[in-house]
Amino acid sequence: MADNRVSSTRRALLQGLAGATLAAGATGCGGGSSGAPGTGATTQPGSTPDAPPSGPHAPRGVHVSVVEDPHTTRTLTWFTDGLSSPPSMAIFDQPPTRLSAAEDAKRPFARGTSSTAERTFGVNAQTHRVTLRGLDPERPIRYRVGSEQGGWSRTFWLDPVPRNTWRFMHFGDHGVSARAHRVTEEALKHPSDLLLLAGDLSYADGNQPVWDQWFNDVEPLLASTITMSAPGNHEAKDGGGRESGQAFKSRLTHPDPRLSVVGNNQGSTFYSFRFNRVHFLVSSAGALIEDFSLAEELVNMEVDLASAALARLRGEIDFIAVMQHYPIWTDQLGRSPANFTLVALEEDILLRYGVDLLLVGHDHVYQRSQKMAYGSNSPLGYVQVMVGTGGQSVRLFDESPQRWSAFQFIGLGLATYEVSPGRITGTFHGAAPEGDEGDALQTVLEPFAVRDTFSIERRSLAACEQCALPPRDPDVLLRNFPLIVHHTRMRNRLAFEHCG
Ligand SMILES: [Fe+2]
Ligand SMILES: [Fe+2]
Repeated sequence: MADNRVSSTRRALLQGLAGATLAAGATGCGGGSSGAPGTGATTQPGSTPDAPPSGPHAPRGVHVSVVEDPHTTRTLTWFTDGLSSPPSMAIFDQPPTRLSAAEDAKRPFARGTSSTAERTFGVNAQTHRVTLRGLDPERPIRYRVGSEQGGWSRTFWLDPVPRNTWRFMHFGDHGVSARAHRVTEEALKHPSDLLLLAGDLSYADGNQPVWDQWFNDVEPLLASTITMSAPGNHEAKDGGGRESGQAFKSRLTHPDPRLSVVGNNQGSTFYSFRFNRVHFLVSSAGALIEDFSLAEELVNMEVDLASAALARLRGEIDFIAVMQHYPIWTDQLGRSPANFTLVALEEDILLRYGVDLLLVGHDHVYQRSQKMAYGSNSPLGYVQVMVGTGGQSVRLFDESPQRWSAFQFIGLGLATYEVSPGRITGTFHGAAPEGDEGDALQTVLEPFAVRDTFSIERRSLAACEQCALPPRDPDVLLRNFPLIVHHTRMRNRLAFEHCG
């Protein structure tokens, strides 16, 4: 086993060096690598202005996630056209600091790791995945993906993840419209160590090439930022039935769930990860219920959050955050709570283990709650931050704000969070529409500005003790499961009627 690992590492390194020569040569041959007229190259944050990818299997839709330690590993995923491709890889190195374009063009890539390849759902393409390991946590990463025969991506950069004070970003309900492009451009102005996408990513709605368009649009952001995503109701349209959410599963790469019984969850639609002193759990909230993974997911949620609450009591982490597409509470008509049985169980789990922050989308507005529990203000509850303002559409509030609501905004926007020891400070950057109905409501031209700020402090030791409880038996947890299934299906149907 150890010998195999050594030999495969050595093989990858040798392949990487070979690829590095070619990649450096390709940059040099491109000439005029600083966006000269006619090259088509553009400068994007996180990438150097070298030649755009070309070749019979040119990599596209490059994006970064983590399935292991965010300081010493990165996972890269990308696509190539055609049902086969040459063996592909990521080539990378870690200079002490970012390089100028001229330095970058001359410097070879010292390391390489081979990727796996599999069919991308619904299109004649392949999904490539690779995890870079043994990274120096203090240095930036410079990388390309592809192959000698198929072509290489442009060069992208990833910054090291700071350990004490760091930033993450959150929004959902994105799409490929001009509004979505504005949100992507705004996101690029706020470099983050982690991007959380709260579902309804591309709005392909079963039309698979739209996923390719979306991944091309967001590549400058997603190839330079660790990005973790939750599936939304629109992801359920890719496949349907037991194949529900297949595009999400075959195009994104996330950690495996803690417990896996069904085992058909490649790409992972529910999972958890630790980022410095914050524990994140990502849930499907039943968006993909037809793939029969919801029972397994609820058991995972219970076990995972019980373990996180214990880790917080031991002083290993400061905060527990959950991200999912569906809000638990909302002021959108008929959706609060839209699925009472599932919401009752989920909120019971969230409150039992003292989740601090619930990050959601779905309703295309911004709404932040007070600390709340069961629809009422509660100092021991969680703060729900709904950022469904990614650009797919702009919605109004159907009802006047409920008592738990702390702030509302209509328009486009994204939330940034600065995490410092014992504190998370959130900021919503929003842009309002031209009017409040018809085309004017969907036209957003004004600059983004800070609209809301808030902070969450680490819980007291006494509060942490109350939440350090053992996970409950699945029989207890799932005693209303048939009703949960019934209500979740009903909620999912209503969600499509409501938002199209
Ligand atoms: Fe949506
Ligand atoms: Fe949605």
